[in-house]
Amino acid sequence: MSIAILDYGSQYTQLIARRVREQQVYCELFSWDAPAAQVLAIQPRGFILSGGPASVYAPGAPTLPAYVLESGLPVLGICYGLQLLAHTLGGQVSTSSQHEYGSAHLEIVQENPLVDSALQQVWMSHGDRVQVPPPGFIVYARSATCPIAVMGDPQRRLYGLQFHPEVAHTPHGDQVLHNFLYGICACQPAWTTHSIIQDATEKVRAQVGAQRVLSAVSGGVDSSVATALVSRAIGSQLEAVFVDTGLLRQDERAGVQAALAPLLGENLHVVDAAATFLTALQDVSDPEHKRRIIGETFIRIFEQQADQLGHLPFLVQGTIYPDVVESRAPERANAQRIKSHHNVGGLPEHMDFELVEPLRYLFKDEVRAVGEALGLPSALVWRQPFPGPGLAVRCLGAITPARLETLRRADAIFRSALRAAGLIDRPPRSGEVPIAQAFAALLPVRSVGVMGDQRTYQETVVLRAVTSQDFMTADWAHLPADLLAAVSNRIVNEVPGVNRVVYDITSKPPATIEWE
Ligand code: XMP
Repeated sequence: MSIAILDYGSQYTQLIARRVREQQVYCELFSWDAPAAQVLAIQPRGFILSGGPASVYAPGAPTLPAYVLESGLPVLGICYGLQLLAHTLGGQVSTSSQHEYGSAHLEIVQENPLVDSALQQVWMSHGDRVQVPPPGFIVYARSATCPIAVMGDPQRRLYGLQFHPEVAHTPHGDQVLHNFLYGICACQPAWTTHSIIQDATEKVRAQVGAQRVLSAVSGGVDSSVATALVSRAIGSQLEAVFVDTGLLRQDERAGVQAALAPLLGENLHVVDAAATFLTALQDVSDPEHKRRIIGETFIRIFEQQADQLGHLPFLVQGTIYPDVVESRAPERANAQRIKSHHNVGGLPEHMDFELVEPLRYLFKDEVRAVGEALGLPSALVWRQPFPGPGLAVRCLGAITPARLETLRRADAIFRSALRAAGLIDRPPRSGEVPIAQAFAALLPVRSVGVMGDQRTYQETVVLRAVTSQDFMTADWAHLPADLLAAVSNRIVNEVPGVNRVVYDITSKPPATIEWE
């Protein structure tokens, strides 16, 4: 029981998929020109055609594949999807150089199974619009500037919306999707956390049989949930390795052990490799050089550990659905590399493993729900991302045990104050743009201070807290001044070697979130 979403390039396509899943209906995203057999293999109950930047009249514009209409299944076209339905079925689309962007008031002109009068405010973002509906279609709703905002052909179960029901700016948009999924496609609410776990458990068991599986746990949400899920499926056939690089935050290793040891018992192997990493990083201050060394050292230690555990033919990876969808978008291949993120903490390419990816079709919110259902602590499930090279890229300049300890203490003070104020490590509230990352960095910059009657000449801690949805752009968080003052006080008083605390007020771009 699923829905196939054909992607025509809208920035909102992933959001459509998340909204459908929130309604407990499984869906998958496909490029609009994916082979019919691949799309039909999920046995869809209906299709959603996403929006997209093209005009139906543009040369080479994406088209509606014939199998969609031939299937006789319900179709919901959104924005470009609506225009494509109209264009393909004999309606008339008018091009316009004027873009309608923003909230619009919807007026229902005909009772219909898709939208009702509760839906008044909708979000528009389009240039072209449908001027004449195709034969068989009825106009259901219009807006002041858009004569055909909703149309449908109930006989053939083909529907279209000019607005975006998936965005938060369309307050009752979920009801429209609900009507399509349940009323028109007759879906059942079968996609629940329970069914996700059940499904993944069966798939992992079928894939690995009685063989042994290795997992590299980083302590992050995805690798921890993937490991917990595989452990639930195959118990002691799983061996998990957690490498303590010596570049972790305060109490981080203990936290990972406390979360996973109850599930994995003796099959959780914690490798203390701090000395190896610190030796390898001696006298290195260039960020990319740090990343390279950490990546190589990680691989070497992981290989040693895997050798000790004997032959394990399978490897767990915490790949999630956005990784899969985004890595197949061609434009990303040309994206400029600002930092070599994905080379760090990556595993050796030549290792001969078959991958087990239990989260491959899950969005982050689903991964978190699974983590909670499996009993992982909420601090881990709602944890902020932490870079693979860890504190190495937050300890600017030379990486020494003493400087790392200074950084750890300052960072712990900052994050505990934010946690106590209810600002991090919890589910986001509705409508809120959450603090996506907050941390301290240690700068190799000494300045003069005075403590008691003593002149001091010590290093600087910078506090960084950003709000962000996707980590591609970020704004600095406008934290309460009292909180910043209390944190600054505590750091200077409690952390030896620091006499100055500054707050970073730069957004991304032009800065990045991390300092290196
Ligand atoms: P920037 O600093 O580029 O970071 O704005 C964007 C996001 O990526 C994380 N980050 C890393 N993650 N290895 C990682 O696994 C890295 O080398 C790395 N560098 C940055 C950063 O914490 C933020 O979430």
